[in-house]
Amino acid sequence: MKLPHPALRTLLRKAYSGERAAALAYVGHAASLRNPEARAAVKQIEDDEWNHRRNLKVILDQYEIAVSKNYEIRFFCIGHLISLSCHVIGWFMPYFFAGKLESGNVCEYFVMLRHFHSLGIHGHDEVLYEMGIKEKEHEGYFLKQIQHSRLLPWFETVFHWGPGSTVNDVDLDHKYPLSEAHTYCRHFKADRDSDPQPRA
Ligand SMILES: [Fe+2]
Ligand SMILES: [Fe+2]
Repeated sequence: MKLPHPALRTLLRKAYSGERAAALAYVGHAASLRNPEARAAVKQIEDDEWNHRRNLKVILDQYEIAVSKNYEIRFFCIGHLISLSCHVIGWFMPYFFAGKLESGNVCEYFVMLRHFHSLGIHGHDEVLYEMGIKEKEHEGYFLKQIQHSRLLPWFETVFHWGPGSTVNDVDLDHKYPLSEAHTYCRHFKADRDSDPQPRA
């Protein structure tokens, strides 16, 4: 079966390639950390991103959607560039920008879920819900690592992400059940296709 939904197809292809960029970025981030616990935590997040990529490939294959070579190359380069930069930009910024990227990626899975529903397809609800919630957990982890940094208020003002500025409406302390997941991210702009960003 082919998906008669161009925006959803684009979102799936972009997310698939973006997950690799995120995983590659976290390879560098983990390697730049000296604390073994922190390194293991970022490594776990890297593994989560590879897992997301595998999940997305299953969906792409199911609907005969070809992987975008353009996205693959662009996100591969972005991921490697971020990975290398983690060794030279200090301790704070890799955590901050990882958290900011995670914050933006949370909604994409809930938007996908809603697009599938518009086609009467509910078979991917669980995996999309799990991936969206996992991205929120990643965002929370990164924020926690830098919450006491004196740099955070300034970065939050300039880059619009921090304790009081998330770009999604998912609250892990008051999580919606799967049956209400379609109500998340109603005001999220999903068609950010012109400017690929690494996922996280
Ligand atoms: Fe992910
Ligand atoms: Fe993530």
